[in-house]
Amino acid sequence: MIFIPLKELLTAIERLKVFFLEKIGQSQEKDLITKDLQTSTQDSVPNNDVSSKQSGYSPKIFKKSIHIYSHLDADGLCSAAIIARMLERKGIGFQITILRQLELQYIQNIAEEQQKYNRFIIFSDFGSGQIEFIEKYFQSDDYIILDHHKPEFESKKPEINHVNPYYYGIRGDDEISGAGVCYLFAKVMDSRNQDLAYIGIIGAIGDMQNNAEKGEFHGVNKVILEDALATNQITVEFNLAISRTKTLAYAIAYTLPIVLPKLTDSLSNVELFLKKNQIRSTDELGNPRTFLDLSNLERKTLLNALIKFALVECGMNPKKSKELLQNIYILNDFNEKYKISDAREMSSLLNACGRGGNSSFGIAALLGDEDSLKKAIEFSKSYKHEIFLGVNRARENIREYEFIRTVYEQSINEKTIGTICSILLHSGDLIDKPLIAFADSDNHTMKVSARADKNLIEQGIDLGIIMRKACQKIGIEDPAGGHPPAAGAKIPTKKLGDFIAIVNDLTGTQMKK
Ligand code: C5P
Ligand code: C5P
Ligand code: ZN
Repeated sequence: MIFIPLKELLTAIERLKVFFLEKIGQSQEKDLITKDLQTSTQDSVPNNDVSSKQSGYSPKIFKKSIHIYSHLDADGLCSAAIIARMLERKGIGFQITILRQLELQYIQNIAEEQQKYNRFIIFSDFGSGQIEFIEKYFQSDDYIILDHHKPEFESKKPEINHVNPYYYGIRGDDEISGAGVCYLFAKVMDSRNQDLAYIGIIGAIGDMQNNAEKGEFHGVNKVILEDALATNQITVEFNLAISRTKTLAYAIAYTLPIVLPKLTDSLSNVELFLKKNQIRSTDELGNPRTFLDLSNLERKTLLNALIKFALVECGMNPKKSKELLQNIYILNDFNEKYKISDAREMSSLLNACGRGGNSSFGIAALLGDEDSLKKAIEFSKSYKHEIFLGVNRARENIREYEFIRTVYEQSINEKTIGTICSILLHSGDLIDKPLIAFADSDNHTMKVSARADKNLIEQGIDLGIIMRKACQKIGIEDPAGGHPPAAGAKIPTKKLGDFIAIVNDLTGTQMKK
């Protein structure tokens, strides 16, 4: 057993449970019955029933119908999936909408919807950074927030309906994800929801929280992992971090945890590499082999050859190249039944769904719906290639400033810019400054995605604060923010120059502190 100081957070979640049950409490009025489970499409999600097909539950009568709003990335989809299954098990109907971000215009619309239709709103994986506007536009407290983004004022204790680990001394950027917070809530609601721990782990991996040595977790994530291990949903293995279920060539080209220029996204170069190292990519019958088909000796040869390639051909530093070898969180059920190798592969599948406008398939896939999983796999096929194309294009458009680098490439869209920025930062020797990426959005605005390496965070860089302050300085109302290593904003295109200059200055100030 490990000891993690969780008591205060759990007490807040217990209070939230009482608040929530009171709010949605059962009623005898027939016309207030909630609709069957459904997901809706406010922004990017096609209409698709998440899980009512396999649930077979009969809805009870509740005072309010519930609408879950969550973020479009892997952690956001995991958060929504956990809440969905928890509600479904309680016989509570709901609707899910996935948003690219909880923007001001959405908050206004949701507040209106809440009042007009007597809805109860659940915000997951966002909400803390937007609390000022939620409180401003909502006419009642018929909502809860389950978030892990750093609030602007950590010392100001939140209302009962708002849970965030930072208020209890727990970091949301690496100790617990949005899905982790939702998991704890689901488990407090009903201990049987312990079987959703694996989703909490996938969310944390989507947010890159397994960044302790050897790919291990920190803090509360360790407790969630213990739950997933105890229920045999996950097995941890320290090995070459590569997909076990994809064909070997594809796995090397697309599923390694670090980018190896010339091998990543180039199946033909991977074939040459395998040949050179005398590892056959197909068996005697010509069928493609997977990592699991390799002998122990071949696995060792492959690992050594990849490390050598990283060091010699890519000029990578030894510490970075060692990331090839790390903990792999194998999803036992998905592995056997659906050939999804591990939590990292699942999180990238979810990102493909969320960012590609197919969130509902991702959520249903997470909850074990086979058809949705097949569709999600289909959608994700071209996604990785598109991402690496974007990474290469972006690489050619980097600009140097004193304390930051910026990148803008017209063809990269706002839903993938965050992922591209993350990969780009970690794939070259760009870790000495924050990387601020821009993509065109609607109405003459730009989406901003900012990323900084761990070493800068240790030196005191907090991109969430920088984004928020820079937006305030150029007079933008729409809330910006995020985590110290990963944050975002939305700015008017005409303010781009001012924004970059301010972000550069603010970064310089934080670095000198
Ligand atoms: O909204 P949310 O917290 O779920 O999103 C965090 C985002 O930042 C994720 O898309 C994650 O991949 C990214 N991230 C990153 N580098 C980190 C931590 C998170 O790129 N060190
Ligand atoms: O959109 P992107 O992946 O760059 O976002 C990085 C992190 O910043 C995410 O955790 C996201 O939720 C957060 N963010 C935010 N407010 C914004 C934009 C992004 O809190 N306006
Ligand atoms: Zn998150």
